[in-house]
Amino acid sequence: LIWHKNKSIALLLQKLILFFAGISWAVLIHQTPSVFVDPGDNVSLVCSHNRSDYKVMLWYRLRPKNTALDLIGYGYNEFTKDSVEQSFKESFKLEGDLKARVKKGSLVITNITAEEHTAMYYCAAREAQHSNKPTVRA
Ligand SMILES: *[C@@H]1O[C@H](CO)[C@@H](O)[C@H](O)[C@H]1NC(C)=O
Ligand SMILES: *[C@@H]1O[C@H](CO)[C@@H](O)[C@H](O)[C@H]1NC(C)=O
Ligand SMILES: *[C@@H]1O[C@H](CO)[C@@H](O)[C@H](O)[C@H]1NC(C)=O
Repeated sequence: LIWHKNKSIALLLQKLILFFAGISWAVLIHQTPSVFVDPGDNVSLVCSHNRSDYKVMLWYRLRPKNTALDLIGYGYNEFTKDSVEQSFKESFKLEGDLKARVKKGSLVITNITAEEHTAMYYCAAREAQHSNKPTVRA
């Protein structure tokens, strides 16, 4: 569900279930519900979960009319400057603590514009694996 009304922009978060080949588990995580912001604002979307072994957190964007999720960035144990993919660095930041018992991550979007940022944002968590890029089916 995407809201775009007058000059407000809604960012809707939903639970994302990740399936990895041969592994039949899913993670349910808590996310900020829809938020409405004005252009130029900054917004912080928060995602948390309790699974101590899931130290990787990933954030995705699904733009209206797109069918593919874009990987914004991910962190293992922590988020650093390099956690955000190059093409998202301009207006996205990742913050949070993935070592604590309740793991929490925030996607911070700065200087919001309707054109660039109206989308659904998903967060996902998984165990550390050797492969760099996860396989995602939503
Ligand atoms: C948004 O964040 C940027 C960078 O952190 C900061 O410079 C700016 O003042 C913030 N804008 C608002 C409206 O809070
Ligand atoms: C973590 O677990 C506690 C206790 O079971 C619960 O109260 C809390 O809501 C959980 N937090 C998350 C983010 O799942
Ligand atoms: C915010 O975005 C507007 C429109 O893209 C741009 O003109 C402005 O310079 C940006 N402001 C900052 C602080 O990046």
